[in-house]
Amino acid sequence: MREEFLDPGVNNEVEESDEIGLRPRRLSDFVGQRELKEHLAIVIEAARRRNQPIDHLLLAGPPGLGKTTMAGIVAAEMGVHLHITSGPTLERAGDLAAILTKLGEGDVLFIDEIHRLSRAVEEILYPAMEDFQLDIVVGKGPAASSIRLPLPPFTLVGATTRTGMITGPLRDRFGLVARLDFYHDDELESIVRRTASIVGVGITEQGAWEIARRSRGTPRIANRLLRRVRDYAEVRGDGSIDQDTARDGLAVFGVDQRGLDKVDRAILTAICVQFGGGPVGLSTVAISVGEQTETVEDVYEPFLIQQGLLARTPRGRVAMPIAWQHLGLDMPAPGDGRANLFS
Ligand SMILES: Nc1ncnc2c1ncn2[C@@H]1O[C@H](COP(=O)(O)OP(=O)(O)O)[C@@H](O)[C@H]1O
Ligand SMILES: [Mg+2]
Repeated sequence: MREEFLDPGVNNEVEESDEIGLRPRRLSDFVGQRELKEHLAIVIEAARRRNQPIDHLLLAGPPGLGKTTMAGIVAAEMGVHLHITSGPTLERAGDLAAILTKLGEGDVLFIDEIHRLSRAVEEILYPAMEDFQLDIVVGKGPAASSIRLPLPPFTLVGATTRTGMITGPLRDRFGLVARLDFYHDDELESIVRRTASIVGVGITEQGAWEIARRSRGTPRIANRLLRRVRDYAEVRGDGSIDQDTARDGLAVFGVDQRGLDKVDRAILTAICVQFGGGPVGLSTVAISVGEQTETVEDVYEPFLIQQGLLARTPRGRVAMPIAWQHLGLDMPAPGDGRANLFS
């Protein structure tokens, strides 16, 4: 069975409402991503002085790193309204037109999963982004004509887990393109401590560290693990979290020393054991662990690659030496058919 609480992409309603209170509201409360914050601080300040909205902003990166949070911060810093929608929910051009006509002067429109916009919707978006114009086609066939409606200047913030799937013309219309990186352990530690103080649970420095370093570099997972450890501490301990409680609690929930969960380990085990370390195709890996290829590629692989456990090669996925080590498996010696794996 899949352990949904470890999947940074899965976000149920309960958690969604939990997250709202945890989202930093100001740029200064946003931990990490130093370069992005610095760029935004300058851009926001300049726009404020000119009394103009900031340039359209595209945020790319794996789930749970703070893209939605950042869109909210941009709106709050500019003192404007935030309108939220997503690629898959905008089915027809009219869906987007309805949202665009509701925008106020300078507002922020956040489109999550913008790589999943349909062509028709994307085409409405181009003139809206470029000239703040809405082109509406009225009528059908030869009698059809198009009307241009002016829109108030606004800022589009797009979020995507896959930059590679954004079309060139769309990408070119963003003035700022930023990639969010996985967080460092000390950044995650301060996120864990911040969340602990918001939800009102006592935690020691070592306790926070233990959770932070096993959070796959992802704030959403850090917050989620903290909640699970808090449950554990309430049931098995005195309700507060120290290093032992954190370690024992995380072990109960199947999070290992590196912060890998069951699916991560299943992926690596499949590649090492079933496919001799690879190279093996992505879809084969996905089938053998019972996940969607897109989930494996967007949610699981980025961290495994960043950790040097997995490599993407032109011929397929390959388990790296640390993966064998981590799973406690012996890596086959060179010469037994796997020698030119990395060629
Ligand atoms: N830099 C950060 N500092 C503090 N908390 C963060 C940060 N980034 C993300 N979070 C927390 O992680 C959770 C997920 O962030 P979110 O913005 O929804 O990620 P994404 O949209 O990239 O999937 C939120 O609850 C937010 O509180
Ligand atoms: Mg989001």
